[in-house]
Amino acid sequence: MKLKTNNIENEFKKLLNNKFSKSRENLLPALHLLHENSNYLPEWGMKIIGWHLKIPLSEVFGAATSYTEFTLEKPNENSITICTGVSCWINGGEELANQIKLNKNINENYVTKTTPCAFMCSMSPLAKFKDKWIGRININKLSNIIK
Ligand code: FES
Repeated sequence: MKLKTNNIENEFKKLLNNKFSKSRENLLPALHLLHENSNYLPEWGMKIIGWHLKIPLSEVFGAATSYTEFTLEKPNENSITICTGVSCWINGGEELANQIKLNKNINENYVTKTTPCAFMCSMSPLAKFKDKWIGRININKLSNIIK
């Protein structure tokens, strides 16, 4: 279920109340729920999770920053994230990163970021564009997608 933009904080509180008991073992599932709904982990959402589960924000933040599948930055339409994990790197990720550096169109219009293993190694190499991971990516496929 996606949250509506009006009164999103109250909707998220209700969703948490309906889905999770006030137990600290629900921290990761609650973070996944927030990430699924917002495409990132906004601070307001982590505060609500801490309030609901009676966990200090520092602990919520600690868990949120321990997993590479979570991002604390609002998705940027103009960003490309390249996985630099071993599987992606040796299967073409390094070549992709080098080709992106040389591609004037991509460099002028997009911010390139990296992330350690995105946990989809069987699809390596991977890049993320508009919050969607793309497997078996190469410079031609990426160029066609961002057109
Ligand atoms: S190394 Fe890229 S997904 Fe694991």
